[in-house]
Parts: sequence; structure tokens; C-alpha cells
Amino acid sequence: MNKILITCANRITPYLAQEVEELGFKVIAEYPSAIETQGSFHDTYTLNLYLRTANRVLYWLKDFVAFNAEDLYAKISELPWERYLNPESYLTVDSIVDNPTIANTLYPNVKCKDAIVDRMMHKIGRRPNSGPEPKGAMIFLYWKNNDVSLYLDTSGEVLSKHNYRKFPFQAPLQESLAASIILATEWDKNTHFINPMTGSGTLAIEAAMMAIGKPPGVLRTNFAFMHYQEFDKKIWSAIRRKANANIKKKLDIQIIATDINPEAIQAAQANATVAGVQDYIQFKVCDFRETPIPSDKKGIILLNPEYGVRLGQEDALKDTYQAIGDFFKQCCQGYTGYVFTGNDTLAKQIGLHVNKKIPFYNAKIECKLLKYDLYEGTKKKF
Ligand SMILES: C[S@@+](CC[C@H](N)C(=O)[O-])C[C@H]1O[C@@H](n2cnc3c(N)ncnc32)[C@H](O)[C@@H]1O
Repeated sequence: MNKILITCANRITPYLAQEVEELGFKVIAEYPSAIETQGSFHDTYTLNLYLRTANRVLYWLKDFVAFNAEDLYAKISELPWERYLNPESYLTVDSIVDNPTIANTLYPNVKCKDAIVDRMMHKIGRRPNSGPEPKGAMIFLYWKNNDVSLYLDTSGEVLSKHNYRKFPFQAPLQESLAASIILATEWDKNTHFINPMTGSGTLAIEAAMMAIGKPPGVLRTNFAFMHYQEFDKKIWSAIRRKANANIKKKLDIQIIATDINPEAIQAAQANATVAGVQDYIQFKVCDFRETPIPSDKKGIILLNPEYGVRLGQEDALKDTYQAIGDFFKQCCQGYTGYVFTGNDTLAKQIGLHVNKKIPFYNAKIECKLLKYDLYEGTKKKF
């Protein structure tokens, strides 16, 4: 068993920890934007394939002390790189560095790459080509003060992109954030998922992928783990085959995505097609108040309205937020309503009692997922 560090965006850790545990791994430690678990190198295939909320899966190699770049070079040279790396592969080094002797934070990447390729030339007379694109093997270096941790990055291209959004519309949510928002709701995948103001469809597509059990990694052909000596193609093929075999072909619930803008629905449908979930989502061009709300199996209604920072202006949006409150009260009884917004002033316009406020960041903007219990009849009766 080896240490595996899985990184994520700020405030996503609880949802990442939930996913990691559901995959059968133990969460050893939680940090502001990462969790630590344990597993074998082959376990990183499963984590990369299934995780919806992660950024990178890092397989730990070594911790050591380095006071300057020369120390770093010497310590990195001691590792058996000829056993880890394929000389035919392509090598990238990435790092987070905060050391008093380092002014240019890209310099440690060069020293690390030099230490690796010099050692490989010395030991086997061959070395991988290197460069900045995340297309082959990737070494990740964390250097804080004098403490260094070195990892094999097994993801390469970040996992937060789920590879279906080929047609973005205005202000799309990052796919991993959309997945985290859904995990933060109480939706159990057996009830309806209604997503007015769907934009490019991220929330509805993530919900459909979760409902049918389609891991985001099946939409991807290249991961960094494929470029290490230890990669076992047979094990990877078996994990992928099992994942594909477990994808449901039929859903007993409705996933409904609507938007007032026909171009948004066009983009959402095209993205859903890339994700292979177009048959599980009902799309409609309409004002959010005309979204069809099924009366059986009541589930959740989740909206991500504009909030006046990137799109639209605050004043113009006040009426929209008031109308969301009216829509919840009049048309969505028995459902649980959720609004994801970065604007508290606008959120107050909804005018309903907020049952829960769950904090998030959307890039650098502080956001909240607001929960509204939309009782049928009076609360007391419910
Ligand atoms: C912030 S974007 C949603 C982004 C989306 N979550 C995504 O990931 O692509 C808000 C969306 O609300 C839609 N919208 C604005 N006013 C609306 C209304 N009255 N009825 C329905 N949709 C509306 C806009 O067309 C826009 O696509």
C-alpha cells in the first residue's frame, strides 16, 4: 500500500472524500484542497476513471529535505527513474514551490527534469523527451520551505474536465464543480432531477452520468498512468470493461433541462450527445417558469441563475430571483429546491426560508448552494 494524494478545488474535499470512500478506499487525511488515501499503483486507474470531483491523482514516491536547487537535483537523482519511466515516453514536470532560495518557480521543474534524464542517460543510455504538455508521464513536486514531496502524477490532463463539453455556452460551471454541487444536494438518483436555466447542460449531464453510473473517465483515452513502466494494460482493460458493463441502459426517472435561449439548449444537447446521455435528458426551450414538473417521484429542482458578476447586472436580476421564489412556491411543491449563486443580495430576493447554505467557490467567487424545502400544503401538515 502506498500513499495516494488526490487534489481538488477548494471546498470540494467533503464530496471527494465521499466518492473515494464509495469506491472502497479509506480516507486517511483531509486537507483544504486534497485528500490522502492508500493504494497500489493499479488502484490509481480506478480513481482516475471514476472520480467526478477530483483534479489529480498523485502516487507518492518520496519525501526529503532540500535547502536549494542543488540539493533537489542530488536527491532526485537517487531515485530509480529507469524503473519508473519509459524512455520512449514524454516527460513533464509540474510543481508547487515555496522555498526562500527559489525566485523563479519554474526553475525547480528544470532541475527535476535534468536530474531524471541525466540519471536515465547514465543508467540505460536513453531518456524520454520532455516538455510542458500533459500528454505523457508527469512528475509532481511539492516543495514547501525545505520539505519536498515527490509524486508520479497518474492523471496528466486534469480530471476536473470531463471531456464532453465541446460546445460551451455563457458562464458554464466546471464539470467537477457541477458534480460536487449535485453530491451536496440530497438527490438519491431514484427521483426526478429538474434543471431549469441549464445553459450548456453541465448539471443535467452530470446528473445523467451519475444516474446511469457512467464514470467520467470512459470518455477519455489518455491518462498519465499509461506512461509508466508499471502500467498493466490487462488490469486497466478489465477495470474499463467492468465500468462499461455496469452502465445502466434505462432510467426510471426524468432528467429535465430547460433554458430560455435556444442556443443554450442546442449546446446542451450537443454536449449530452458527446457524453452519450442525450437519451436520458428531456430538453426544452422555455422560460424557467414553464419547465415541466412531473408530479410523481418528486425529486430536486436545481437552478444556477446568473448572479451579476460575469453576466447580467444585479438590478436586472432581482425580478428573476423573486420569480424563482414564486415558481418554487407555486409549481414545485413536494420537491426540494436548490439555487447555486454567488450573490447573497440577489438570493434574498427569493423570499423563502433557506433550510441550508452550503459554501462553494466558483473559480475565485464565493458561492453558495441554497436549499429550500418546498412543502406540500403547510409545513406543519408536512
Ligand atoms: C449561469 S447560466 C447557467 C450555466 C450552466 N449551469 C452551465 O454549466 O452551463 C444561466 C442560464 O440561465 C438562462 N436564463 C436566464 N434567464 C432565464 C429565464 N427567465 N428562463 C430560463 N432560462 C433563463 C440563460 O440563458 C443561461 O443559460
